[in-house]
Amino acid sequence: MDDKEKWTELEARCGRCELCPLGKTKTNTVFGTGNKNAKLMFVGEAPGEREDMTGIPFVGAAGQLFDKYLVSVGIDRNDVYIANILKCRPPKNRDPKPEEEDACIGYLREQTRLVSPKIIVCLGRVSAKRLIKSDFHITKEHGVWFQRGAFNMCAVYHPSALLHDPSKREDMLKDMLEIKRMYEA
Ligand code: URA
Repeated sequence: MDDKEKWTELEARCGRCELCPLGKTKTNTVFGTGNKNAKLMFVGEAPGEREDMTGIPFVGAAGQLFDKYLVSVGIDRNDVYIANILKCRPPKNRDPKPEEEDACIGYLREQTRLVSPKIIVCLGRVSAKRLIKSDFHITKEHGVWFQRGAFNMCAVYHPSALLHDPSKREDMLKDMLEIKRMYEA
């Protein structure tokens, strides 16, 4: 199979997934979007209401704020790949359950292998705990770089945290500028 066929097969498999109960309650699977050969990949937590309605990650209020940071630092959303730990929306936007993450993580691993980015940025604590280290502390460790295999990884505040606490926005801008610097290095 070439990469195009692998992507098609993976997305189709994910679309009919019933490895956890969220496959039955979701409206749309939110597989991932963007440049499949991106140097930079962002990984969020799970789809919210708007993402569940559209099938596209980060299109709700948090996503629109995230887009503003991309624009501010000069990263084109079309150049990066964006996905989530969970591909289906947890009811009422509750945190993902560990068993849901376990069931779903294989899809992200396959996506990551296919995209093969140089940099992976976790959007928020849930993604950072799953992908960087289980005791990740977002307030202390946002913007800190970790080497994981071939990947340079860091985490930034989840955009929805910035909606609730605007005092975090200055740190977010600094972290995003550093990510842009790495991206261009
Ligand atoms: N929050 C996330 O973590 N992911 C989305 O796609 C939307 C909101």
